[in-house]
Amino acid sequence: MLWYCLMKVLVTGAAGFIGHKVAERLLKTGNEVIGIDDLNDYYDPKLKQWRLSQLKQYKGFDFHQGDICDRRFLESLLRGAGFDAVVNLAARAGVRASIRDPVRYLRVNTEGTINLLELCKEEGIGNFVLSSTSSVYSMNDVPYSEDLRTDTPISPYGATKKAAELLSYSYHYLFGINIVVLRYFTVYGPAGRPDMSVFKFIKKIDAGEPVPVYGDGHQKRDFTYIDDIAEATVKSLCLQGYHTINLGNDNPVELLYVINLIEKSLNKKATLQFYPVHPSDMKVTWADISRARDLLGWTPKVKIEEGIERTVKWYLQNRQMVQALREAEE
Ligand SMILES: NC(=O)c1ccc[n+]([C@@H]2O[C@H](COP(=O)([O-])OP(=O)(O)OC[C@H]3O[C@@H](n4cnc5c(N)ncnc54)[C@H](O)[C@@H]3O)[C@@H](O)[C@H]2O)c1
Repeated sequence: MLWYCLMKVLVTGAAGFIGHKVAERLLKTGNEVIGIDDLNDYYDPKLKQWRLSQLKQYKGFDFHQGDICDRRFLESLLRGAGFDAVVNLAARAGVRASIRDPVRYLRVNTEGTINLLELCKEEGIGNFVLSSTSSVYSMNDVPYSEDLRTDTPISPYGATKKAAELLSYSYHYLFGINIVVLRYFTVYGPAGRPDMSVFKFIKKIDAGEPVPVYGDGHQKRDFTYIDDIAEATVKSLCLQGYHTINLGNDNPVELLYVINLIEKSLNKKATLQFYPVHPSDMKVTWADISRARDLLGWTPKVKIEEGIERTVKWYLQNRQMVQALREAEE
């Protein structure tokens, strides 16, 4: 299979953590990328601007600030523009924040996805990739395989993503759009999300501040390195039909283990502050990735020890910028 066919791709959420790496990977292999992002302040937009500054170095990149809920904005960009594919990485992505603001999550994650699917239908755009999440698996036994039932999400975030998955299937069935739903598992790496554990832990341990741990710290996450995620996401653009694919590291580790790795990389000791576990927290996530291996010929390459070291290195190189970022809510 040809993995890197040259394309004109719309990447939504291009200033986001995963979006900027997916866009970069597409650009490095000669594709044209139009990025959109509303640059909202769920976490400090200065980091989004930093990521965009990396992408603006590529001549195949163009950026438009706007909202995927704004049909007129999307029409003005997509009508007659000859896109080959859409990668929808724009979303509200906080589990706990979705409990505080469920209507916004429904609007962006579900309605925003329909807006894009409608334009794919109208403009004859044949490939659509939807970013979904391990959060749809809620209380299933691990490892999670794609065929498990996912109709009991334990957060509005998971529910709005599941709704987007279902709508995507309808558009594949009715209009023949090739659709790949990617269920990402706890992505981390350089320029990561400030509301997520790895970023918070690094910043707090370095600053000598207490590190918040919800629960006993023995909960496990299938931490997956950003470059592996970007590689698989780009590969998924070449699939035909409708597919749901887990992208995880297939190696869940405890939060306390990750804290320990960060301590070693920074050569500093963490002070842990324990809080009660939140009802929307999953005890463990673990991806069965046999489908990703079969369909994409993909296997994650970066082990957690190496990934944390690379992330801390990026942090140390960009310490001033990171320390100036406003504290992110979870
Ligand atoms: N990072 C992870 O561990 C993880 C895990 C599972 C799923 N995901 C999914 O992957 C996707 C990307 O996540 P991320 O970690 O890069 O998050 P992110 O918040 O860094 O990126 C999302 C980007 O979308 C933009 N955005 C939000 N609402 C928008 C709107 N209405 N219009 C235009 N742009 C908008 C944001 O400004 C942000 O830059 C999301 O769909 C998320 O749910 C991420």
